[in-house]
Amino acid sequence: MEIQREAQLQERLGRQLILFPLPLQGHISPMLQLANILYAKGFSITIVHTKFNSPNPTNYPHFTFYPIFDGLSESESSPNDIISLLSLLNQNCIVPFQEALAQLLADKSGDPIACLISDAILHFTSAVAKSFNLPRIVLRTGGVSSFLAFAAFPLLLEKGYIPTQDGRAEEPVVELPPLRVKDLPVIKTSNPEKFYELLASMIQETKNSSGLIWNSFEELEESALTKLRQDFPIPIFPVGPFHKHFTVSSSSLIADDTSSISWLNEQSPNSVIYVGFGSIAAIEEKEFIEIAWGLVNSKLPFLWVVRPGLVRGAEWIEPLPEGFLEMLNGRGHIVKWAPQLEVLAHPAVGAFWTHNGWNSTIESICEGVPMICMPCFTDQLVNARYVSHVWKVGVQLENGLDRVNIEQAIKKIMVEKEGEEIRKQVLNLKEKINLCLELGGSSYNSVKSMVNYIASF
Ligand code: UDX
Repeated sequence: MEIQREAQLQERLGRQLILFPLPLQGHISPMLQLANILYAKGFSITIVHTKFNSPNPTNYPHFTFYPIFDGLSESESSPNDIISLLSLLNQNCIVPFQEALAQLLADKSGDPIACLISDAILHFTSAVAKSFNLPRIVLRTGGVSSFLAFAAFPLLLEKGYIPTQDGRAEEPVVELPPLRVKDLPVIKTSNPEKFYELLASMIQETKNSSGLIWNSFEELEESALTKLRQDFPIPIFPVGPFHKHFTVSSSSLIADDTSSISWLNEQSPNSVIYVGFGSIAAIEEKEFIEIAWGLVNSKLPFLWVVRPGLVRGAEWIEPLPEGFLEMLNGRGHIVKWAPQLEVLAHPAVGAFWTHNGWNSTIESICEGVPMICMPCFTDQLVNARYVSHVWKVGVQLENGLDRVNIEQAIKKIMVEKEGEEIRKQVLNLKEKINLCLELGGSSYNSVKSMVNYIASF
């Protein structure tokens, strides 16, 4: 394994790091990627994780995995009510995590522990780490721009932008340009107060931390990082894109369907639209049908990830009209889970229709793939606005999810002259990423500062 070879060449630092990911796909992957970066720089790595969505250790034989009890019942272990799940994790894991840290700190057989690196959403880890006098660094797996919008929630509530009202959807939020009211990172929940509390704790305990790591890079979020440095006077390390520092091992919680790649191998360069909405987002049956017809009517080949649970109330693709798959005649391929990094890097892929989770967004930019944006909730709404209006590497589906709009958006991004600037712009951004990772580039330097900082504890 490349990462192990690099680590063997690198002098071992004799220091151990405890990493604690939030147990959701979009958070586990970047934490394990960060762990690989730190391992390659000489740290030994222990991953504390819940039993719920526990990561598969087989691709990471060089890490120690330490499971803790999360106390979640089967009905609670579902991302359907994500806010309740996150709140429960922050309550249930306090004692098990305390016990785990006590045991790890007392164990003198391993390298001495330098610090804890926890997901920003696991805010309870702040008090636990403090009780052991252990420095805590935060990994925020989303983008900086959406984080600043979360940090502005008290102001947004005070000014009445949230809770969002339909009549004000198009109104600009003058305090957070270029966001409009409809781009604010909200979520439909039965308990909005719980959501606001969760955000407030995340922000507060990030401010109280010893440092903040980002899967982003200076050139992408320069002005947001400047503002962040003013408001969060702690060391900040934008070291992303994490997965581009080395060849990554899979950290998928669902098995990758490798037929995605064999199918792509049969397609012409830049001809395929890849459609995938991450690991949590769910859509209505009516929307699912419109997506299906939009794809068919575009007359372009498509690879579509329909995760079981994507369509509310359905097991998988049974709401598709009878004869739909046969009618495609091989022009479309539907899978339950794709090896997304490989898919985006495949020469046949010409565009990505995405929900704009941060990982998907950054992965698409890394491969120079333009996007159709269909954000569902929280940070995705902010990311989509930045993709379409700041970085100008995608178009947002704004006027409702109907087959005519979809067909137009696909054609614009894939083939029409109107989309040419977008296709060029994403290649420019890809080039900037290559530069930021090279010797002397911003992320390269940021990794160096991060390693020196952590080693100084
Ligand atoms: C969640 C939130 O929804 C998102 O807004 C936040 O930024 C991170 O956490 P998720 O919705 O799953 O994440 O989206 P995303 O951030 O894009 O992460 C999904 C990950 O799963 C990506 O790394 C993607 O490569 C991977 N994936 C997705 C696959 O490997 N195969 C698939 O078929 C789909």
